[in-house]
Amino acid sequence: TIEGIVAREILDSRGNPTVEVEIGLDDGTIARAAVPSGASTGAFEALELRDGDPKRYGGKGVQRAVENITERIAPELVGYEASEQRAIDQRMLELDGTPDKSNLGANAILGVSLAVAKAAATSAELSLFRYLGGPNAHLLPVPMMNILNGGAHADSNVDIQEFMIAPIGASTFAEALRYGAEVYHTLKSVLKKKGLSTGLGDEGGFAPSLPANAAALDLIAEAVSAAGYTLGEDIVLALDVAATEFYKDGGYVFEGASKSADEMVAYYAKLVDSYPIVSIEDPLAEEDWAGWTAMTGELGRRIQLVGDDLFVTNPQRIARGIAEGAANAVLVKVNQIGSLTETFDAVELAHRRGYHTMMSHRSGETEDTTIADLAVAVGSGQIKTGAPARSERVAKYNQLLRIEDELDDAARYAGRGAFPRYRQ
Ligand code: PGA
Ligand code: ZN
Repeated sequence: TIEGIVAREILDSRGNPTVEVEIGLDDGTIARAAVPSGASTGAFEALELRDGDPKRYGGKGVQRAVENITERIAPELVGYEASEQRAIDQRMLELDGTPDKSNLGANAILGVSLAVAKAAATSAELSLFRYLGGPNAHLLPVPMMNILNGGAHADSNVDIQEFMIAPIGASTFAEALRYGAEVYHTLKSVLKKKGLSTGLGDEGGFAPSLPANAAALDLIAEAVSAAGYTLGEDIVLALDVAATEFYKDGGYVFEGASKSADEMVAYYAKLVDSYPIVSIEDPLAEEDWAGWTAMTGELGRRIQLVGDDLFVTNPQRIARGIAEGAANAVLVKVNQIGSLTETFDAVELAHRRGYHTMMSHRSGETEDTTIADLAVAVGSGQIKTGAPARSERVAKYNQLLRIEDELDDAARYAGRGAFPRYRQ
């Protein structure tokens, strides 16, 4: 039974304030959760409540969200069983009363929602992934490691936000992580040798300025083979273009020119012909539904097309995507929708309709590792949580190592099976 809820303002990986919540149960359990924050946020995300007081953290303080937890949410939830996740989340949604959680703040609601789940798991003496996923949870996701950062996550000239490696040829998650870390270190040497910057972007990947976006893929290809791996076999590639960021007045301002959706699709088709790319996230803008449908028709049988800003983990937008044949996979970010219950609803809808899911961090992260457990719990088979470096990213990968250990012989690494559409 929930006895008390405490909240505070802490710092995220970019040094900006975010919300942390602690929940105490009457059996002595104390559980803690923290809320992440995006930079290239979708316009249709639930609202992240910030104070707007320019005298504190440049207006980014979250004292109002903290106060909403302690003064408005906590009194309503005392007395609930922590295992009543759905009822608790519903109570918070009612209390908020807005479609985008702008009254209490999605950061306030999500912090409580995640801490409730952790408290229930601890009280039941279960690992979080077992509590959330049940006795059959056993699938370890492919880590989609973002080793080269551009777009809004870097100060470089690279338009595409994320260049990821996916070690599908490994036999375990631990081996996959080792492949990724080795390539990451080799990429650093490759960049150094060429006199390119080895400074890092927000998600821990390198952030050099480059002559063209495809040059990033060439550098990664070079690093993969220099590290002793076969590109296209051991390791394949994935992109998050985050195209909404450069969508201006109905055109895509890409590599210095404004392009139509058709021209972008032609560009992607050429990339997919030239490199072993299995997945492209947000290749088009969050409002370009027609472009998405056309692109899915053209490339959706060859690669995974992931909606992030397009879907914002929102079951209503996912349902529209299904109806219109837009994308074939959903990026899952707990803070886009703002509660664990709605996250489960989004994943369930996607899976039921044959859409894959990729669990995801935000570019602003904390030491909280809930998404690692959640990926295994829902069997998403894919997770992206940045480079295999920097503690806020590695915390999630390390938690997956622990889960793989706990499952022991029952663990299965998703590997190639995560991308059944991949037919290079
Ligand atoms: P964000 O970026 O957390 O800054 O939104 C991550 C993504 O676009 O996937
Ligand atoms: Zn994205």
